[in-house]
Amino acid sequence: MKLAVFASGSGSNFQAVADAAAENRIDAGIAVLVCDKPDACVVERAEAMNIPVFSFRPKNYENKAAFEQEIVEELQKKEVDLIVLAGYMRLVGDTLLTAFQKRMINIHPSLLPAFPGLNAVEQAWEAGVKVTGVTVHEVDQGMDSGTIIAQEAVAVKPSDSLASLTKAVQAVEHRLYPDTIQFLLRERLSQGGAMHQ
Ligand code: GRF
Repeated sequence: MKLAVFASGSGSNFQAVADAAAENRIDAGIAVLVCDKPDACVVERAEAMNIPVFSFRPKNYENKAAFEQEIVEELQKKEVDLIVLAGYMRLVGDTLLTAFQKRMINIHPSLLPAFPGLNAVEQAWEAGVKVTGVTVHEVDQGMDSGTIIAQEAVAVKPSDSLASLTKAVQAVEHRLYPDTIQFLLRERLSQGGAMHQ
């Protein structure tokens, strides 16, 4: 099975998935990293692991459909089965959604539907919740709104700061994402077939 990971930033979740693939903890390899910020740290992480990178600057395209069409062609050429969003800081448009219907997932650092959007750990911290967590979900047109696939709770301890809570949430992300990808790949494999069309 082949994954495409989409990321825009530091790439710690990309790293967790890449490490899981390298250590055979998931039955898949990363065929390509797609990145809309060519200078992002995640690009260096991919290069260090010899993972191909498709990076682009959205402003060089007429619109979202134009760069998404190029991405779709790249992913089809590489026979990608599943798109894994890992800190990809833009809403996915119809071109990608149509080509990869039901084959695109995202990770979000809260227990959705609570705290969608940016700075979710900070939102939870400021709301004073005693439990937050991590969600892996299918991607649809909305912001962090697709069908939930997996969730794990993280307790907010009295001794926590925003920084320590962020660290605890990230540690769960780095375990839950590879585990959930493996669960999905197994499920689809047992249904007898490749996921790409
Ligand atoms: C993660 O918190 C992820 O849940 C969210 O964006 C962040 C990306 O962090 N969608 P990193 O670049 O993987 O370190």
